[in-house]
Amino acid sequence: MRLAIVGATGAVGHEFLRVLENSPLQFSELRLYASPRSAGSKLTFKGKEITVEVMPEGPIAADVILASAGGSISKTYAPVWVEGGAVVIDNSSAFRYDADVPLVVPEINGDAALKHKGIIANPNCTTAIAAVAVYPLHQRFKVKRMIVSTYQATSGAGAKGMDELLHETRRYFDGETVGNQVFAHPIPFNLIPHIDSFQDNGYTKEEMKVVWETHKIFGDDSFKVSCTAVRIPTLRAHSEAITLELEKPATPEEAREILSKAPGVQLVDDPGNKVYPMPLNASGKYDVEVGRIRASLVFDGGLELFVSGDQLLKGAALNAVQIAEYLQAKGALPSGEVAAG
Ligand code: A2P
Repeated sequence: MRLAIVGATGAVGHEFLRVLENSPLQFSELRLYASPRSAGSKLTFKGKEITVEVMPEGPIAADVILASAGGSISKTYAPVWVEGGAVVIDNSSAFRYDADVPLVVPEINGDAALKHKGIIANPNCTTAIAAVAVYPLHQRFKVKRMIVSTYQATSGAGAKGMDELLHETRRYFDGETVGNQVFAHPIPFNLIPHIDSFQDNGYTKEEMKVVWETHKIFGDDSFKVSCTAVRIPTLRAHSEAITLELEKPATPEEAREILSKAPGVQLVDDPGNKVYPMPLNASGKYDVEVGRIRASLVFDGGLELFVSGDQLLKGAALNAVQIAEYLQAKGALPSGEVAAG
């Protein structure tokens, strides 16, 4: 099984390599691609250096391509890669809403991945983090309304987003004017209720992704979702306050019991001991932290919760690798004769 990463030098690309080092995915070859800017640079995988190649303009000789080089690259090249025989697991939003492209979180709808026609979409990071926490509750109590407020890290805008936070914060302490290029406004000591472009309905595209993608991943659009997405000056891991109105009334104890057994979730809920989800603790962690679980004061029998998840991992690289692992475990990929590395 030949594996390739497109966008290997980016924030998500870096996490692909770290996740693959500990993944059961079997592959015999790993090739790394990025823009001409990175040609010849070297990345380390399992202690060995791999040279980054310029992404070709045509097909890539791989069985599976993990793509995270942005929507326009995926839009143009993913069909070419599929034509060349590869299965593309795409981290961009380019194909997520296409009816014949599965949008997959393996803990929720892994089987959808088996119906792919060459491209499988990895969800928006904010959506994936909320989905692993909410789906087990949806299965038991059925969500009627879901209201999400996000606190999103700068790494959601890639490596350049994190760089801008660090660089501009340094400028602040050096007494220089703080500027912005990646974000709509200066990010140090600020927060920005604007992620991605504004839509005609007044919501941003990031907010609408949570609506569209939650419905598609759950395979159920009978419940209502709304989101306010806010960029905050943290480096990585997104947090979200989630309010749920439920068809069947739930107690916080029942929710804790369900979430303590849910795959991809870590229950972090002991407020008396100052234990609750936080981005610093969730960074680098595979599981999404869930806590502050309490009865809604607005919706009878509803719930309030707070989640923190590493959006470069569950919201991106980890989820994509888990999709490949799922396909291989189901015999839907070449098994590869050589274990990773
Ligand atoms: P490069 O580092 O050479 O610019 P991030 O999301 O962190 O900004 O990373 C984006 C990733 O996509 C990087 O690996 C980047 O490579 C890659 N990339 C951007 N533009 C292109 C392109 N035109 N062709 C191939 N890879 C690209």
